[in-house]
Amino acid sequence: MLHREDLAAPADLAQARRALAGTTLAELFARDPNRFQRLSFEWDGWLLDLSKERLGEDTLALLVAHADSAGLPGWIAALLAGEKVNQSERRPALYTALRQTGDAPLVVDGRDIIPDIRAAQSRMRTISAQIRGGLRVGATGRPIRSVVNIGIGGSDLGAYLVCSALAQPPRARGSTGPQTQGVDVSFVANVDPEHLTRALAPLEPATTLFVITSKSFATQETLANAASAKAWLVAALGKGVDVNSHFMATTANIPAARASGIASVDILPLWDWVGGRYCLWSAAGLPIALKIGWERFEKLLAGAASVDAHFRNAPLDRNLPVLLGLVGWWNATHMKHVERVVVPYAQALFRLPAYLQQLVLESHGKRVGRDGGALTEAHSPALWGEVGSNSQHAFFQWLHQGPREAPVEFIVPVDAMHPLADQQALLVAGALSQAQALMVGRRADGIRTELAALGLSGIELDAAVAARVCPGNRASTMLLMPELSAYRLGQLLALYEHRTFVEAMLYGINPFDEFGVEYGKTLAKPIVAALADGAPLPPDTDGSTRGLVAHLRTRIGRAGSSATSDS
Ligand code: F6P
Repeated sequence: MLHREDLAAPADLAQARRALAGTTLAELFARDPNRFQRLSFEWDGWLLDLSKERLGEDTLALLVAHADSAGLPGWIAALLAGEKVNQSERRPALYTALRQTGDAPLVVDGRDIIPDIRAAQSRMRTISAQIRGGLRVGATGRPIRSVVNIGIGGSDLGAYLVCSALAQPPRARGSTGPQTQGVDVSFVANVDPEHLTRALAPLEPATTLFVITSKSFATQETLANAASAKAWLVAALGKGVDVNSHFMATTANIPAARASGIASVDILPLWDWVGGRYCLWSAAGLPIALKIGWERFEKLLAGAASVDAHFRNAPLDRNLPVLLGLVGWWNATHMKHVERVVVPYAQALFRLPAYLQQLVLESHGKRVGRDGGALTEAHSPALWGEVGSNSQHAFFQWLHQGPREAPVEFIVPVDAMHPLADQQALLVAGALSQAQALMVGRRADGIRTELAALGLSGIELDAAVAARVCPGNRASTMLLMPELSAYRLGQLLALYEHRTFVEAMLYGINPFDEFGVEYGKTLAKPIVAALADGAPLPPDTDGSTRGLVAHLRTRIGRAGSSATSDS
């Protein structure tokens, strides 16, 4: 087992960081005409360009050596072999088993889990074919046409991302004809009743199916939305009608799902060894299979499996998730960046930043190491982002001229396979030019000449020049993906999962637990009771929470009664 001492970064990495202190990225390019070739990595049609990251001539080699001496190859093997890498909860993290291609046994606590996975997949295939084919009927005998996934966190984000990214059926290159859609699938996560209400507004109760996705089947938001969905069905279909046929569940808590009235045959299993943020590959991906069909869901799994094999087999210095993770670790621990920004240049990936926020921040949001000791190094930057080109007209100003640097990860599907090729070129050019601008910046002398020619002078000229200077020397990674297909999306998500694992191993943390979120859930319960029923708060409740509850108790749910409301 790895010990914390092994994680100390070698002195030569600190030295490499000091050597870079007075050097700009532009100077690094000037010194090494082969920098792009040296720091770009191609694999299976992908191109990872790290040349605009703040890496000196030897930094990457030193990072790889550090990963080796920190035992990273052993951790990768342990993860993929199903060892109990989630030490605090004493369980493996086997999302990779869910996309394993062959039937080689994988034993967890004495049981080969592969047959269980195959059985669940076979049920998913049958269910998705039935529903997409209009063969499943609701209580009134009418076929199901709309599916609403009710779940939150990992029980929402992954499936929602994939469904929105792959919503369009594959289109033959150059075709502009109409496209057929599968069953309509929507997602409700927020306990804010507005979310469910808006989702249900266009739907017909008699033809709507709810899939309750919850590993625990105890999440308050999900159970509240499920209860409201049931009430909506009963109100529309009549009290005497058994609406349970309008519900399915995916859960590790089968007794609770059964107790809610859902038939056993309509409950798909989850397992302890699949974490919420890694569960889209499991039966929690049922909405995906319903939306895009089983064959494309299998392609998603196959894409992820190809990255798993690459992660397992490729040498560290040519291993894409390892390289991404090493640079992420370097940026956090040595360059001391407290943020990272993800910008996918694809509208279809508009949910990617939200998905990655859960994947990365729930995994890396830890203040102690695996042994419980406080972490001494900087680690775990916050992550935010939005699609390009929209973000160019929002937060890129901050990235170019704001007070501090946040490295940007540009993710660009190259071939959009749609007929508007000119717009695709404009989109991709946006990514390249933003990355270029971040690195080279805009110098004062050129601006001064331009503005002086327009007649500005003196203090006015100085101020105008200063406002326009972009310091540049701001780092970014460019990840070019071949196209946005199910297979390639599976690869992208697996790349980020493994990258997140690599960083966690180097930080020395357990990426697979989330006790902080669990604590928040516990505290919510007495507050709900106090607000809803006036129940007393626990005696140790702080003064602010008490004051807020007292203020809200008489007001909550009375919107519309004041002069400032819209109604
Ligand atoms: O947000 C915390 C969390 O535990 C996530 O990890 C999980 O994806 C989410 O809550 C939902 O949990 P469940 O699937 O048990 O409803």
